[in-house]
Amino acid sequence: MFLAGIYVMVVTLAAVVTGDLDPPEKHYKILVLLPVSSHSHKNVFIPLAEALADRGHQVTMLSNSPKSTNHPNITDISHGLQHFQNINMFEYKDDWTTGFTMFEKVLPVIARDFYKVPLVKELYERRKEFDLFIVDHAFNEVVYPFLHQAPFIMVSTPGTDYRQSAVLGNVMNPAYVPSQSLDFSRPYSIWHRFLNTLIHIAFAVYWRNWNIVPQLQKEISAQFPELPPLLELERNMSLALMNTHFSIGIPLPLLPSQVEVGAMHCRPANPLPQELESWITGAGSSGVIYFNLGSFSRGSYMPVQYRDVFLQAFRRLPQRVVWKYEGELKNVPDNVMITNWVPQQDILGIKTTF
Ligand SMILES: *[C@@H]1O[C@H](CO)[C@@H](O)[C@H](O)[C@H]1NC(C)=O
Ligand SMILES: *[C@@H]1O[C@H](CO)[C@@H](O)[C@H](O)[C@H]1NC(C)=O
Repeated sequence: MFLAGIYVMVVTLAAVVTGDLDPPEKHYKILVLLPVSSHSHKNVFIPLAEALADRGHQVTMLSNSPKSTNHPNITDISHGLQHFQNINMFEYKDDWTTGFTMFEKVLPVIARDFYKVPLVKELYERRKEFDLFIVDHAFNEVVYPFLHQAPFIMVSTPGTDYRQSAVLGNVMNPAYVPSQSLDFSRPYSIWHRFLNTLIHIAFAVYWRNWNIVPQLQKEISAQFPELPPLLELERNMSLALMNTHFSIGIPLPLLPSQVEVGAMHCRPANPLPQELESWITGAGSSGVIYFNLGSFSRGSYMPVQYRDVFLQAFRRLPQRVVWKYEGELKNVPDNVMITNWVPQQDILGIKTTF
């Protein structure tokens, strides 16, 4: 009996690992909503959408970025609102929430305009046609009207979000679970535990009860007066997928409805473009440093004084440096390559023997 159980588990695991699952009983219509997301957030959704589409489900994905998959069973559309683009994070460097106050300006405006976009309006009117919704949990409360009396899954793109966990009833312990903005070295001292508790409370209250959600609620209630409050809609989530993993994060007590899917978007590296490849292999035994502030922060946003500090520091290093930077840079040292785009998974996955 016990062995049979193990056998079933091993077979199931093997099937999951090889992607060799039984075909689904039915093909569903799934609407994936991430209208407020950066490129990196969408990266987490693409493998999920593609895996569902491979199994014959019809996936519609609404985001704010250009089409990024050609899968025949995925309709990847952009709503076209420009509010969440070209935001200079460096302007928020002294912000007490480590940058989250930029959403005070952006999110209410998106909530005001979102359902006026014809394409969004049409999707909203057709919402009962969909069997399941998958939503980006970070910053996307604006789509909660879609979720009224519907089954939905939330994906926490930045990893574990203690606020999301609390919605499911799993209140995380601030004695060791970091907030998303700040962490301390482990184990936390009594002072850090105290600070972290304050941060947990302050940020949750700021976002959910005091500033962001109440502003969104005002805009949404004006358009959908009959709907329950946004935070009540959120409570019906059936499953939370978290873009984190205990092998690289901290071990957490999780509910069966909280599943860690970190590295879901990782794939084997493809060969690098020739120029980049030879730059890296030409670095010799000193090796290469890869410097990238992500897709959201454009190089030109970096204040000149920081830029110069980096240039000076890189100049003194024996390593070569690949710096993702959009735009022209003067006085670039010989050991620094400036490039406006880097295939990140391929550069991180490169196999070299220095
Ligand atoms: C798309 O979905 C159909 C069923 O709806 C399925 O037969 C087909 O294999 C899927 N296409 C791909 C490329 O996975
Ligand atoms: C939550 O789900 C239940 C069961 O599906 C449903 O009856 C209820 O109306 C839903 N509540 C909201 C706010 O969507």
